[in-house]
Amino acid sequence: MPEKVTISVIKADVGGWVGHSSVHPALIEKARENLRERGSGLLIDSYVATVGDDINLIMTHRTGVDSPAVHELAWDTFVACTAVAKELKLYGAGQDLLSDAFSGNVRGMGPGVAEMEFVERQGEPVVVFMADKTEPGAWNLPLYRMFADPFTTIGLIIDPKMHTGFRFEVVDLIRHKKVMFSCPEELYDLLVFIGAPGRYCVKSVYSKALGEICATSTTERLNLTAGRYVGKDDPALIVRCQSGMPAVGEALEAFANPHLVAGWMRGSNHGPLMPVSAKDATPTRFDGPPRVVALGFTLCNGRLLGPQDLFADKSFDKARQIANDVAHYIRGLGPFEPGRLPLDEMEYTTLPDVMKRLSDRFEDVD
Ligand code: F6R
Ligand code: MG
Ligand code: MG
Repeated sequence: MPEKVTISVIKADVGGWVGHSSVHPALIEKARENLRERGSGLLIDSYVATVGDDINLIMTHRTGVDSPAVHELAWDTFVACTAVAKELKLYGAGQDLLSDAFSGNVRGMGPGVAEMEFVERQGEPVVVFMADKTEPGAWNLPLYRMFADPFTTIGLIIDPKMHTGFRFEVVDLIRHKKVMFSCPEELYDLLVFIGAPGRYCVKSVYSKALGEICATSTTERLNLTAGRYVGKDDPALIVRCQSGMPAVGEALEAFANPHLVAGWMRGSNHGPLMPVSAKDATPTRFDGPPRVVALGFTLCNGRLLGPQDLFADKSFDKARQIANDVAHYIRGLGPFEPGRLPLDEMEYTTLPDVMKRLSDRFEDVD
């Protein structure tokens, strides 16, 4: 059996600079140092990336998904970064670390986790998408476009290895259940669920022809994990590309017409997901609009050759222009839906307090 490689992306917000807009260089340096020193002998390679106020640890290794050693390393790295964030009085230091002690796996402890294990192909291009100021369901529409929409991915029609379609694993974040859909046959059933991205999220996608995993995402919802507001769960997504999987350009094309996602200011507004270069991943206007960065790597015996900053390309200028226009328009709605999220989706609310105070002023309607 050929040896398998695992790519793990584990992310957290352990302090913003300034406000919630970016990560201070001292935290990036601390994360790099920690992975380099403590990860030696465990990791094959690593890259520390940021988007907005989130640190994404991109790691390759041979210990499989849910490896306690890799999870512990990521946890300890975020703890070390939190110490620096506290020292520098960065905003919201340690906000995504929900527990004091590590217990074998970071799932449910605050950080988001996306991992996949596979046999590295002769050519293994991988794109790591990372978003800020939104939630895991933000990937539903682009994953549908990449793996099920021939208007985005022409390979679905003309590549024999893609023509049989893909299987989508969907998670119900409220009931903690998962279900598999085989597409294209079950496209309409799939869309019934993933069109509601606040509750149903695409966790992974598998190729039917190759029998291989192609994509996987973080599906933790921090606010549900914590039972109280602790920030939107800015998600990450790993997509393998080419040779029966979407071409790099097909995967990126899924973001060319920015869609509206939940998040933005106070995790309580709708805004367009703007594809940007790593250096432009600094959401400022109304703490946004939400951003997505795409880092491309070629795997070489587990080594991460890259990244290529894929949305830096000029061909995404138009998408950014559309996103800015949509952002400007929807901001005009101010506190009215659909600018603001529906009452039960907002992460900040004064409704119970205001309702309580006004309760005796409400009268029956005749
Ligand atoms: C959204 C986000 C920010 C904050 C906002 C208020 O995910 O992180 O928009 O919600 O800046 O932050 P606090 O309540 O910490 O002052
Ligand atoms: Mg933050
Ligand atoms: Mg964030």
